[in-house]
Amino acid sequence: MAVRESVELDLARVDHLISEEEAKLEPKHRSSIEYKQVAARTVAGGVASSWQDSPPHAIYIDRGQGSRIWDIDGNEYVDFHLGYGAMVVGHAHPKIVEAIERQARRGTHFAQPTKDLDVIGENLVDRFGLPLWRFCNSGTEATLEAVRLMRAVTGRDLILKVEASYHGHHDSLMFSVVPDPAEIGPRKHPVTLPQVPGIPASFAELVRVVPFNDLGLVERALAESEGKVAGMIVEPAMMNCGVIFPVDGYLQGLKDLLHRHGAFLAFDEVKTGGTVAYGGAVELFGVTPDIVTLAKAIGGGVPCGAIGATEELFGPVVSGEMDMAGTFNGNPLTMAATRAALTQVLTKDAYVHLNQIHGILAEGCTAAIEKHRLPAYVTGAGAKGSVIYSATPVREYRDTIGIDERITYLAWLFQQNRGVFKSPWSKQETWTTSVAHAADDARRYVANFEEFAAAIAG
Ligand SMILES: Cc1ncc(COP(=O)(O)O)c(C=O)c1O
Repeated sequence: MAVRESVELDLARVDHLISEEEAKLEPKHRSSIEYKQVAARTVAGGVASSWQDSPPHAIYIDRGQGSRIWDIDGNEYVDFHLGYGAMVVGHAHPKIVEAIERQARRGTHFAQPTKDLDVIGENLVDRFGLPLWRFCNSGTEATLEAVRLMRAVTGRDLILKVEASYHGHHDSLMFSVVPDPAEIGPRKHPVTLPQVPGIPASFAELVRVVPFNDLGLVERALAESEGKVAGMIVEPAMMNCGVIFPVDGYLQGLKDLLHRHGAFLAFDEVKTGGTVAYGGAVELFGVTPDIVTLAKAIGGGVPCGAIGATEELFGPVVSGEMDMAGTFNGNPLTMAATRAALTQVLTKDAYVHLNQIHGILAEGCTAAIEKHRLPAYVTGAGAKGSVIYSATPVREYRDTIGIDERITYLAWLFQQNRGVFKSPWSKQETWTTSVAHAADDARRYVANFEEFAAAIAG
């Protein structure tokens, strides 16, 4: 990416615009604001998951159709949040509805295997190139199982993870997710910081944190803990601080390094799988790891998760030496929706469409950035994209520390006030698109972004 000259953003102006936009938003969400009080009488915080409530207030949804959702106040939005990236099939897609309805009439749960397994398994082998698969119900479960497999097969305990990657809310990996810059320690050896209270401090000793995109520091970690590292879990493209792509050679380099040290490589494709390309990051970057974890998009909008791995890694599971189990694993509703999503909706053609929509978003936002000389650039592929508010390329979490969150909050408010629903704002502005998104939906996003860019540039 060429470095462009950019203006310095006036944060006082940003603060002023935030107040204006918040004042416009609040009256549109009276029912949501009131309902939160009602729900909070019996539901902790009034929401089902902590990340469903972010400033300025939680927004409760009534329904969705195609690329649109409606909140309980009746506001209509083009949805670029898409349930944290799970709804790449679009809302209420007829093929998914049909599959779920058909299965619901035939029974929704048996805790016995059903005959969707082979079709889904073959589809995933085709996409991700790994020979064996198992199913679960969330990304959290998938990464939990991936870590356990790597530990079981190597007989080692230590796991490497990347600073500021999120792999779900279990105690094995919920470290250094949004780490406090004051506590992160030196780049050469980041501190392993629990993300929430309640994670035993001793678990941190089993996880070593490394920066993204730096093979040298992975090599150093492996050498310092020779014979102790079971494997590394990595988002092949980081997606929790904007979309950060791997530099050339990074993923293959990781695989080679880890194998040289008798350890495994797991790609957490919970966000990239089913979104960035037909074969996810494996296809996009041309590297097949030892394990892939999936969830979100592959389930067509129902709770889902999957783990793919080599025969070696699945050996103890196949032999029965190690249980990988769950009451709802392979649930028939999940399998029906997943089968329809993978074989009928998220086909190879779907990714041609998603890349066309990405092109409109990327070109439009880049044009606005250039016109107003913003310190920002656009990244992404397929259904996933982001505006990164930095004048220079961001390669890892620490490059984002100086970015002021008020800018992305304001970008979020501009979109929300102009009919575009986005995932809760963070330091970067990310979007997900679906097969139901049309060129006009992308143009709406771009028009709002242009208005935002003009406003902050002053
Ligand atoms: C990369 C990644 N892995 C795992 C997870 C956890 O998935 P889930 O929320 O389905 O448990 C997430 C959730 O956002 C994620 O982004």
